[in-house]
Amino acid sequence: MAGDRNDEIETALHKHLAWWGLRHIESDAAYFAWQREVFTPEDFAALHRSIEAKRAAASGSSAEIAFYDLTAQSRFIPALYSQRYEYYIEVGSRIAAQLESAQTILDAGCGIGLLTTFYAKHCPDASVVGIDRSPVSIALARQRAHDLGLTNVCFECVDLDQQVPAEKFDVIVATHVLLQAEQDPGLPSCDWQDFKRALDVHAQQTFEQRTGLGLRLDRLGGALASHGRMIVFEKTRQLARRIPFQRALAARGLMLLLPPEPIRYRSIEEVTDDGPLYVTGLAPSSNVLPWAESPEPDGVPPLNVEQLRSVRADQDQPLYENHGTSAQQAWLNLPTKQVVDQVTRTEADGRQLHVEWGRAGEFVYLYCANTFDQRQLVVIEPARAAMVETYYREILGEQSTSTQGALG
Ligand SMILES: C[S@@+](CC[C@H](N)C(=O)[O-])C[C@H]1O[C@@H](n2cnc3c(N)ncnc32)[C@H](O)[C@@H]1O
Repeated sequence: MAGDRNDEIETALHKHLAWWGLRHIESDAAYFAWQREVFTPEDFAALHRSIEAKRAAASGSSAEIAFYDLTAQSRFIPALYSQRYEYYIEVGSRIAAQLESAQTILDAGCGIGLLTTFYAKHCPDASVVGIDRSPVSIALARQRAHDLGLTNVCFECVDLDQQVPAEKFDVIVATHVLLQAEQDPGLPSCDWQDFKRALDVHAQQTFEQRTGLGLRLDRLGGALASHGRMIVFEKTRQLARRIPFQRALAARGLMLLLPPEPIRYRSIEEVTDDGPLYVTGLAPSSNVLPWAESPEPDGVPPLNVEQLRSVRADQDQPLYENHGTSAQQAWLNLPTKQVVDQVTRTEADGRQLHVEWGRAGEFVYLYCANTFDQRQLVVIEPARAAMVETYYREILGEQSTSTQGALG
């Protein structure tokens, strides 16, 4: 799908963001300086209070709406929303490229309409509707659409958790709106030794209910024309969230029409990987793709024992370190493993944790794995075995009892 993004769309989107007053800022220092020019101490305090209240509240609460109402004040827009500059470019340009044949487009959870107005500009022959449950966001979106002279877009204050959109649409776009429950860890794997999730209808329903995903997807599914497409993008980088998200789409008959595209962008200096953007559709098509449930390649080089022998020992660096999902394969590939100590236990939050350390040939290793897909493998030279044992005990929350490496 990367080929579908084109320079023209991106250039137009940069211009559009500039019209909204957004700037592409790359350093925290410059960004904070700008914020200090714009926000009074009272503004900062109000924003922090609102962020805290939103975090503490359940999805769908009035605190969430109040947060989006507060951040939709027009004097806040340039400085606040510039944090999302790259997000808008990465997501908006890809989506706009997919809209060209649509006559009717719904942007669900459109916020202040920053991207919705771009879609309307980009598709002048289409009729575009933006809905959101934040009244202040909708008021601002209407004002800005008017200022832009757009006549093919309208905005409605609709809470998807309460109401069903009245019409049917050729394309429904939902970005950062269906799975807002950011703290929700998702579904654990069956076992710390694999990444598979059981086909557990009850666990899936519970996930969809507690995050609000199920209801929102049902409502949007009902508003999609039978030939329509739904384009969705949520915080689903972790497999534990991605799998139930994909299953929720599949259960509503939404089939994958294009390869999912992982999207990476920077929020000022921080790199964010949210998970893939999906283009899905209801109509059966010969080009339907399978929903993948395996981890994506993590880019960590595989373990090569021969190479380890030639790595020069450095006091601070392990010979090999892998914090990605591929650590599991590297651990399986360790030669002549002899476990010195291991624990598998269930943590207070229900996740299963496995930690082990031992000898592998002439090396010492430490391996941790849990049912939320976290893996860690560290391989070091035997002279530093005591360090591995100390680390092992720290992970288990125990006091270290060793002063001498058991393998040393
Ligand atoms: C993170 S913003 C994303 C805005 C926009 N889609 C984007 O990609 O920039 C989330 C928006 O979803 C809206 N929202 C969340 N749940 C909603 C619901 N159930 N019905 C309507 N809007 C909702 C919020 O009010 C907020 O404006």
